[in-house]
Amino acid sequence: MKLKGQRGVLRGKLCVPGDKSISHRSVILGSLAKGTTIITNFLNGEDCLATIAAFRAMGIEIEQDNQVVTITGKGIEELKEPLEPINLGNSGTTARLLLGVLAGLPFHSTLYGDNSLTKRPMDRITDPLRTMGAKIDGRAKGKYLPLAVRGQQLTGITYHPPVKSAQVKSGVLLAGLLAEGTTTVVEKTKTRDHTENMLQAFGAKVDVQGLTVKIKGKQSLKGTSIQVPGDISSAAFFIGAAAMVPGSKITIEHVGLNPTRTGILDVVKAMGAKLSIVETSTIGGEKVGTITVEYSELKGITIAGDVIPRMIDELPIAALLATQAKGETVIKDAEELRFKETDRIATVANVLTKLGAHINPTEDGMVIKGVTPLTGTNVESYGDHRIGMMIAIASLVCQQEVILENPDAINVSYPGFFEDLNKLV
Ligand code: S3P
Repeated sequence: MKLKGQRGVLRGKLCVPGDKSISHRSVILGSLAKGTTIITNFLNGEDCLATIAAFRAMGIEIEQDNQVVTITGKGIEELKEPLEPINLGNSGTTARLLLGVLAGLPFHSTLYGDNSLTKRPMDRITDPLRTMGAKIDGRAKGKYLPLAVRGQQLTGITYHPPVKSAQVKSGVLLAGLLAEGTTTVVEKTKTRDHTENMLQAFGAKVDVQGLTVKIKGKQSLKGTSIQVPGDISSAAFFIGAAAMVPGSKITIEHVGLNPTRTGILDVVKAMGAKLSIVETSTIGGEKVGTITVEYSELKGITIAGDVIPRMIDELPIAALLATQAKGETVIKDAEELRFKETDRIATVANVLTKLGAHINPTEDGMVIKGVTPLTGTNVESYGDHRIGMMIAIASLVCQQEVILENPDAINVSYPGFFEDLNKLV
């Protein structure tokens, strides 16, 4: 795909598609619940469609009309053994959360994914699940997909995840819902808390005290209505674009403002962009509001510590922003980037270096020197949706045309991305 360089300022208002994390969870919990669940503003992207397909394969009736999904839930006991292996596509969230559910259901199932997902570590979730009594087998002692699960009656545990991962926390909590006794997860750093919020919206009791989350097993869920807010991780690409292209000013409405997700707003502000954030409502425990961002001269900063899990998926766009900020930006404590759809420390550094940036990858992050004018060339998304979107936004400040190879990867989380970009530019 050809992307013209220096296409001008961004102006206007936009609503981005529904939040990916919340869309996944709404299908999972709706499928485990008794009664009807109606999801609106569902993210109709490939990852979330994989979650729908997985539960359809277990006999759940799920109707989808674009962004509206209706689930006729019959309760956990009614889920059926899938007849065929379940294809998770590119979706790490589906893999880790579904493993938590399947480990506690009384049947056999097999999971596989695409090339990227097959290389991503699953032992981070299979290890705690095995401690709960799960029987899971696969390559490298169950570290990688494909995995075969022989469902068991699980027992609650107290788990201190060694990695900062909401997927691991969520997978263990979902297994805890099916287990005997109480399951406790104690995090080192707070990660996104959509599972805890949504379990409560479905009628479960969850006890959250700081970094500790407790769930009692054998609770039943009741179908409900879920209104999915816009995905701040998708909005982040346009927020970054407006912060970086002189003369820009845009507003994004009805976007999720859950504090475990808004690290990018803190960072963009600290770099010097003009930002206004107005909370308009709280729906199902999730804050929602409007963000206005306006260009201003940017400066380099250090991005490290507790803010990292609050913006883990936004680090590629933050790195791009740093190429247009005066001075040095240091990203640290972000070793988890190496386990995403691609090794995002390597792919961000490769792509931005090719475009002319001064960027050095480190073990747990990167160091970027700005301001650097970017040039146009051929660059690869590496099949990673967020790398694809970072490249498209980079083209706005590139002096020549950029040719983006494999732009379709973006459909994983943002179908309609280029239409929305064209509306704003
Ligand atoms: C997600 C958690 C994060 C994030 C991913 C979605 C979730 O992954 O990168 O895009 O929905 O729980 P980790 O839990 O691996 O950090």
